Formats: sequence, structure tokens, C-alpha cells
Amino acid sequence: MPKLQNKSALVTGGARGIGEAITRCFAREGASVVIADIDSENGRRVADEIGGTYFELDVADESGWNRLAASHPQIDIVVNNAGITGFEDSPGPHDPEHSSLADWHRVHAVNLDGTFLGCRYAIGAMRAKGAGAIINISSRSGLVGIPAAAAYASSKAAIRNHSKSVALYCAQQGLNIRCNSIHPAAILTPMWEALIGDGPDREARMAAMVADTPMKRFGTVEEVAALALLLASDDATYMTGSELHLDGGLLAGSAASPGD
Ligand SMILES: NC(=O)c1ccc[n+]([C@@H]2O[C@H](COP(=O)([O-])OP(=O)(O)OC[C@H]3O[C@@H](n4cnc5c(N)ncnc54)[C@H](O)[C@@H]3O)[C@@H](O)[C@H]2O)c1
Repeated sequence: MPKLQNKSALVTGGARGIGEAITRCFAREGASVVIADIDSENGRRVADEIGGTYFELDVADESGWNRLAASHPQIDIVVNNAGITGFEDSPGPHDPEHSSLADWHRVHAVNLDGTFLGCRYAIGAMRAKGAGAIINISSRSGLVGIPAAAAYASSKAAIRNHSKSVALYCAQQGLNIRCNSIHPAAILTPMWEALIGDGPDREARMAAMVADTPMKRFGTVEEVAALALLLASDDATYMTGSELHLDGGLLAGSAASPGD
């Protein structure tokens, strides 16, 4: 029995990577999916392949969300997944001492403003039915500092907290709208492929990148999609305001852990 039969879903950043996997998973489970992205080529391709819809949206742009609300006034599931590290738009530096204010603002505009606007749209579009599921893709970087990507870590921490405000607000309003956050660590996506590269020492480079991860491997986009599906489905009807780590055990240990 498909888990999302007769449900409508919006996935931001659904044109590739984690968002694409969530999009494909939700479509397989019976949902009609809208991909909201700035990458129209991949967004349209994926939408065609799954029988979904592509909607051109910069998640940081409030007027775009207003257009989306006008064309999709009702929705059952919203996944706020679109995100940037900062390095896509600017080589940096992105550390706390040297980052420019413009770089800091751009990362927060996409990651945090985008999630705020996505949650705001979701509550409005779910209010008529009084039910729905919001899933915010934060990061393990929302729980620990990242010296070389300070705005990214700050924005992801704020997403973690905002998810709880949304969860509490909806419950206070008597709405059965659940809001939870997912905190992945290293998940193999095009973002990482650029850093890893090809060649004979690819495996060694990958191993070095996950050397601190207890499970000693990258996560897969399908593993993130499976967790998003759980949170979107009626298997998670008592879960709201939760933060789920998907990190091969990374956050279970810390520098304070005794050695082997
Ligand atoms: N890959 C990882 O290791 C990892 C780990 C933790 C968290 N995350 C988070 O998961 C999410 C997806 O990451 P990914 O690795 O799949 O990234 P990705 O770069 O492969 O894909 C991101 C998608 O978001 C879209 N996007 C970027 N800016 C946008 C904007 N302003 N408006 C609309 N769409 C926009 C891109 O076009 C792309 O389709 C991000 O929020 C990221 O921070 C990723």
C-alpha cells in the first residue's frame, strides 16, 4: 500500500541530490509532487520522469512564494530542502573572522529565509484541511560549529530551532500540522562529487572524508529520502518538533568520548 496516496507534496531543491531522491521516493509512494528549484533544466527533467510538476522558485524570494501560493493554495507535505554552503556563490573565505557580510546574508537568505518562507507557505496551504507534514532539511552542522562555513552552520542551527517554533505554533493552533527536522552528515551528492573527483585514489579520498564517522562511509540520498518518507507519512502521526540525526553515528560521539 503506497504511503502517500492522494497526497500532494512540495520539495524545494528537488532538481538534484537529496531533494531529487525525496521527490522520486514520494512519487513512488503515490504523491503528486511539485519540484520548486532554480535549476529549470534538471527540475523539468525530473518532474517529467515522475509525472510531477516543476515550479521555478528561488526560495529566498518572497514574491516567488506568493506566486506559488496562488497556483498551489493547498498542499499536504512540504520539504524545505533547498540549501547552499556559500561556496557556490562565492569562494569565501566563510570563516567568522573574514567572511563578508554579503556572503553571510546570502547563505542565510537561501537556507533560513527560504525555510521560514516555506514553513509560512505550508501552514497557510495546510490550514484548510488542518493537517500536514513539514520536513526541514537542516544538517549535523546545525548542532556543531563549522569554522570554515560559519554562515552555513548558523543557518542550519536556526532551521533546527525554527522547526520547533513551527511545531509548537501549529499544535497551539489546534492544527494537526507536524514539523520536524532532519540532520544529515556527509551524504554523497553532486556537491561532494566535485570535491572527491575521479581517478585511482577516489576511494582513498572518500575514506579520508568519512574517517571520523563511526560507520566509516557516506550516507546515501535514498537513506535521507526514507527518513523524509517516514516523517511525511501516517507512520509518524505523534512526531512533531523532533530532530532526527542521520549521520552514521557522528553526533553520538564527540571529542569528549573516550578513545578506542
Ligand atoms: N549532501 C550533504 O552531505 C548534506 C549534509 C547535510 C545537509 N545537507 C542539506 O541537504 C540539502 C540538499 O543538499 P544536496 O547535497 O542535495 O545539495 P545539492 O547542491 O546537490 O542540491 C541542492 C538543490 O537546491 C537547489 N537550490 C539551490 N539554491 C536554491 C534556491 N535559492 N532556490 C531554490 N532551489 C535552490 C539547487 O538548484 C539544487 O537542485 C541542503 O539543504 C543541504 O544543506 C546536505
